[in-house]
Amino acid sequence: MPVITCIEDLRQLYERRVPRMFYDYAETGSYTQQTFRDNTNDFADLRLRQRVAIDMRGRSTASRMIGQDVAMPVALAPVGMTGMQCADGEIKVARAAEAFGVPYTLSTMSICSIEDVAEHTTKPFWLQVYTLKDDDFMQRLFDRAKAAKCSAAMITVDLQIMGQRHKDLKNGLSAPPRLTPRSVANMMTKVHWGLGMLGTKRRFFGNIVGHAKGVKDPSSLVSWSSEAFDQALNWDRIRQFRKMWDGPLIIKGIMDPRDAREALNVGADAIIVSNHGGRQLDGALSSIRALPAILDAVGDKIEVHLDSGIRTGQDILKALAMGATGTFVGRAYIYGLGAMGETGVTRALEILQKELDTSMALCGRTDVTTLDRDILLIPKDFSDRWL
Ligand SMILES: Cc1cc2nc3c(=O)[nH]c(=O)nc-3n(C[C@H](O)[C@H](O)[C@H](O)COP(=O)(O)O)c2cc1C
Repeated sequence: MPVITCIEDLRQLYERRVPRMFYDYAETGSYTQQTFRDNTNDFADLRLRQRVAIDMRGRSTASRMIGQDVAMPVALAPVGMTGMQCADGEIKVARAAEAFGVPYTLSTMSICSIEDVAEHTTKPFWLQVYTLKDDDFMQRLFDRAKAAKCSAAMITVDLQIMGQRHKDLKNGLSAPPRLTPRSVANMMTKVHWGLGMLGTKRRFFGNIVGHAKGVKDPSSLVSWSSEAFDQALNWDRIRQFRKMWDGPLIIKGIMDPRDAREALNVGADAIIVSNHGGRQLDGALSSIRALPAILDAVGDKIEVHLDSGIRTGQDILKALAMGATGTFVGRAYIYGLGAMGETGVTRALEILQKELDTSMALCGRTDVTTLDRDILLIPKDFSDRWL
């Protein structure tokens, strides 16, 4: 077993162990991938201020996100088709998150259903929903989340229309994977992955097939999804969704202070500054660069979380020091899952926590809840380079 010291090690193992089609699905941004690259590069542009001879004992990474205790302010972001990266993927991720003490967000487009994940876990998880036209389906999603004791709902607002990832088209991405000579040849080299998939019945979109009108089998799903997303979405519609769910609500995909104010007005409890991991608007700012202006607009009125581009504990430290209350990771835990299943997700979380804790200590700080910009060295034009 190789020695795993960082998230990049997990990514390399993941690349070797999971079929190309699913690796590319995760490890790609839309169009030219400029925003996908900027998300990580801009974290590197921020530097940390080293301090010495400050008592660093008694450190804590514990915090709270939307009123819930967390072992560190890092939640697992919703990732569609996680159950294709590894058999029963969503259940494995949820269990690893539960044991570690961080929230897991299940995607609407998951392979394991809400009920299935609830049955295999003991603590509440969060449910992410897309903004779909079908009111009955939306209401039933929220009702199912309530019945499964989900402790928060997340509405993703940046996917009224889908950005294109070229590789997904070239690879013929689908769940279950379409069998072509090329995909079969590639899958045959992924023995562990293949055995897992043969041993599970969870290979379709568990929240959709059998739940959405007219989607009785996987083949009808394609026409359903091209019709389902609501291009007419506006804030009044989001207000209607707010009424369908009476628990804590997170709005994900905010990149502009005006939208942040709208999210506040519809009664969200938190927003996530996110560009969907560089998978939607190519050319959008990185989320870490967009964060300061959004904090200025609503930071004292609502919890502001951040995702997109986090690959290290230092990135998490930078986001928190900039002013985010919490962070989400997507690919970092998917690498772990694809590399080593549930153990790999746990390993990813351990790595991030250790890096966060050590780097915080070297900045002379002992508590993640009291971080501030004093530990950051920010380029002068970081947040106002573009008008
Ligand atoms: C493979 C993949 C699938 C995703 N599926 C969803 C989804 O179903 N719903 C959603 O709101 N966001 C989805 N996202 C976006 C993530 O929730 C999150 O915003 C993003 O991964 C954060 O960037 P990072 O991967 O650089 O950490 C997906 C991201 C990836 C990589």
